[in-house]
Amino acid sequence: MSDRKIIVTGGAGFIGANFVHHMVGRGWHVITLDALTYAGNRANVASLDGDPQHSFIHGSITDGALIDTLLAEHSPRAIVNFAAESHVDRSIDGPKDFIDTNIVGVYTLLESIRAYYIESARANSETAFRFLHVSTDEVYGSIETGEFTENSPYSPNSPYAASKASADHLVHAWQKTFGIPAIVTNCTNNYGPFQFPEKLIPLMITKALAEQPLPIYGNGLQVRDWVHVEDHCRALSMVLEHGIPGETYIVGGNASRQNLEVVRHICDILDRLRPRTSGKPYTELIEHVTDRPAHDTRYAVDSAKIQAEIGWRPEYDFKSGIEQTVNWYLDNEDWIDVVREKYDGRRLGRTGHRGSGT
Ligand code: NAD
Ligand code: TYD
Repeated sequence: MSDRKIIVTGGAGFIGANFVHHMVGRGWHVITLDALTYAGNRANVASLDGDPQHSFIHGSITDGALIDTLLAEHSPRAIVNFAAESHVDRSIDGPKDFIDTNIVGVYTLLESIRAYYIESARANSETAFRFLHVSTDEVYGSIETGEFTENSPYSPNSPYAASKASADHLVHAWQKTFGIPAIVTNCTNNYGPFQFPEKLIPLMITKALAEQPLPIYGNGLQVRDWVHVEDHCRALSMVLEHGIPGETYIVGGNASRQNLEVVRHICDILDRLRPRTSGKPYTELIEHVTDRPAHDTRYAVDSAKIQAEIGWRPEYDFKSGIEQTVNWYLDNEDWIDVVREKYDGRRLGRTGHRGSGT
């Protein structure tokens, strides 16, 4: 087994690409496996082309033969799984891809790992193979007051959340039944560089720069907890090194905000960094639209366990993290142009109708 070699699935997406850069920067050898769906962008890891510490494989986690081959060839220290369909709105428009990748894909990974790890007797060796499955706090559903912990019951509301919950259950079952050394992390909403502009923060930045309406679902008072992607990646690398198989770790940013507050904050930063030629504030572009079906009102998590047991805590505060993120999008308009080709022509956000929100 190669001590410093890992396979990162979904490594050409938002969090995966940040994680690949993070781990290569820390001296790991990374094999990125990605199906390059609309959300996957080869350019996100292209700066590592030619680097002997990185290789890219175009393929799917639903391809068991490919996973078997990669495991046999590389004997990695871990598989870190980011590969997923990740957008709630798309899961409402068409759930099938979510079932295929988020559930069947994870099942396929687990079966390949089972054959590799258990049947080849690696379970008895001193090796410390890990399957680190990256999941979401959305599996717990919505919470009116208080915070979710690792002991909260699963109660997913969207097809996306249900598919992620299913995968988590499979991982836990394969860990318990077959002894696969798997760890699950459940993280809150991420933001930062390389995020595909269908998610709230990059959508608002890119729409504002294009002078397009900023669609707020319903009244915009829904609450999300935001974590900077670099903090999430640091949490994952620490869990990989110090986490206990069979355990779950919640990762939170300690930055709960209402959606409207987030969007207004982005507008204020843009007013300062890239004022509109009309001289009007960007908030003027805010438009309330029809709410998302089954829209979760509030997510909030308690990260006490990962703080106490792993020693991780977020380093970014929301204000500096958002400022850095807006600057990244302003400095990378070429990147926006490349991904724009993937999302232009299809609905972005639930635009169309003015909703009853305030
Ligand atoms: P993303 O949509 O930006 O990237 C997903 C990546 O997976 C893409 O590169 C895509 O090409 C790839 N992919 C999709 N299907 C695949 C398949 N069958 N085989 C191989 N690759 C495939 O997603 P993200 O925001 O980077 O999220 C990564 C993971 O983190 C997901 O599992 C998601 O559920 C989880 N997560 C995300 C957030 C968030 O706020 N974005 C929060 C918590 C957890
Ligand atoms: P999103 O980034 O899609 O993440 P998630 O649904 O996984 O939390 O949405 C974050 C919040 O922003 C969520 O409450 C829905 C809301 N939202 C809007 O109001 N308008 C939009 O155009 C989008 C994409 C999201």
